[in-house]
Amino acid sequence: MVQHDKILILDFGSQYSHLIARRVREMNVYSELRDGQISLDEIRAFEPKGIILSGGPGSVYDQGSPHPDPGLWELGLPILGICYGQQLMTHHLGGKVERGSEREYGRAMLRLLRTGEILQGMPQESVVWMSHGDRVTEPPQGFRVLAISDNAPFAAIGDTTRNFFGLQFHPEVTHTQRGGPIFERFLIGICRCKRDWRMGSYIEESVAQIRAQVGDGHVIGGISGGVDSTVAAVLTSKAIGDRFTAIFVDNGVLRKDEGKKVMERLHEKLHVRIQHVDASKRFLDALKGVTDPEEKRKVIGNMFIHVFEDEAKKLGEAQFLLQGTLYPDVIESTSHKGPSATIKSHHNVGGLLENMRLELVEPLRLLFKDEVRALGRELGVDATLVSRHPFPGPGLAVRCLGEITQERLDVLREADRIYIEEIRKAGLYDQIAQAFAVLLPCRTVGVMGDNRTYEEVIALRAVTSTDFMTADWYQMPYDVLQSCSNRIINEVSGVNRVVYDVSSKPPATVEWE
Ligand code: XMP
Repeated sequence: MVQHDKILILDFGSQYSHLIARRVREMNVYSELRDGQISLDEIRAFEPKGIILSGGPGSVYDQGSPHPDPGLWELGLPILGICYGQQLMTHHLGGKVERGSEREYGRAMLRLLRTGEILQGMPQESVVWMSHGDRVTEPPQGFRVLAISDNAPFAAIGDTTRNFFGLQFHPEVTHTQRGGPIFERFLIGICRCKRDWRMGSYIEESVAQIRAQVGDGHVIGGISGGVDSTVAAVLTSKAIGDRFTAIFVDNGVLRKDEGKKVMERLHEKLHVRIQHVDASKRFLDALKGVTDPEEKRKVIGNMFIHVFEDEAKKLGEAQFLLQGTLYPDVIESTSHKGPSATIKSHHNVGGLLENMRLELVEPLRLLFKDEVRALGRELGVDATLVSRHPFPGPGLAVRCLGEITQERLDVLREADRIYIEEIRKAGLYDQIAQAFAVLLPCRTVGVMGDNRTYEEVIALRAVTSTDFMTADWYQMPYDVLQSCSNRIINEVSGVNRVVYDVSSKPPATVEWE
């Protein structure tokens, strides 16, 4: 296994902690985010070249607020403390931290006094992002002030002998103008890390790791047609060939030609062994008469488990289950309670493990979404799939409002296909985070030729978003809306009206159900 230079990020609960890991990896240096209170032995075992202490919502004086192992300061490693991390550093090393009566939040102008190496290349003045309650009022011995702001006499401090640095602002957020170069100075200039973290090397390591974990065993895994499960499947298939079987369940609420595309992309082009199960009748029968959104989710989730288990039994003994878990899910489930722990995602196959006694294989568990996309490209996965908008597990069931019937699903599928086609044609697909059509549970009056019509309504939705926790409605150009509307009304029989959704999240959600 290749030994990369690594940076350890100790997480004290900031909502920005995962962004630090992102910034470090963007510099091609490997980093991991761990609980801020792990033991000195665990820190040593990680063999970091440097350590970053994240921010956090606590005060160093609060009972129960997280502190690092005090042995940390004796390791002889460079340490960068950000916000609460700077306060921890100050407090532990004999300086003073003062309780703030109010939170300072927002933009501030940073004024450089000296570079202290870490701020080398920074302009005399630059905008930074502050978000803190307490603040440093006296740095520890050996530290010098590197930069100030109007409200922060110790906005950046450093001890260049021990290579300890503290920043009151957040260099990891994009609002901080020159945050990237600060990380670059710390990682490359001060910690002397090699920039050798690349997707190519990740493939080799991951393949070796899957082989080591699985031995001569067998792995099964569900694929949805989405990016994560596809990339995980291709990687596993590369590692163990036909001892991996992907199970692709057609649940009857997929988009047009989805099954065909999955088989083409994965089986024919990338030679992944796939069991294609058409269970659409089972799903649609179970969904008959169901109109409540959460009930639809429940029915689909439970049926998926049944169908998957039946298929797994037919395939014979597998000892392992492949899951496309990503790093944000891992952080979410392991990080202690802080703002970063409140973010939730939708887990669709959680129930599988309870019933089947399988060990998990999770080759993507250290990657962020855009890294998975990069990995997919490297593995030769189709470019349109790699950059695809997310598609929910319950699929068109939560976009076909009201009763789900084969006919209504066909109407929705056609409208959705035309909508996405037009967006791609206009070159807008990659600017949009998610776009889809929704079939409304009502009919409206229209006129076609000399006749009155009474037909269904399609709503078009498009949003921009980075994490889907919040989203803005996308300002779709009128000419694109016009061609979508014309085509849908002309080409999809049963639809006489098209509307565009102009609601942001919150208070609306991305999906209508
Ligand atoms: P909402 O509607 O909650 O959607 O604003 C945020 C993101 O999550 C997706 N979504 C789901 N994904 N199972 C999934 O796998 C679900 O039940 C589900 N509901 C919403 C949605 O498409 C959007 O990307």
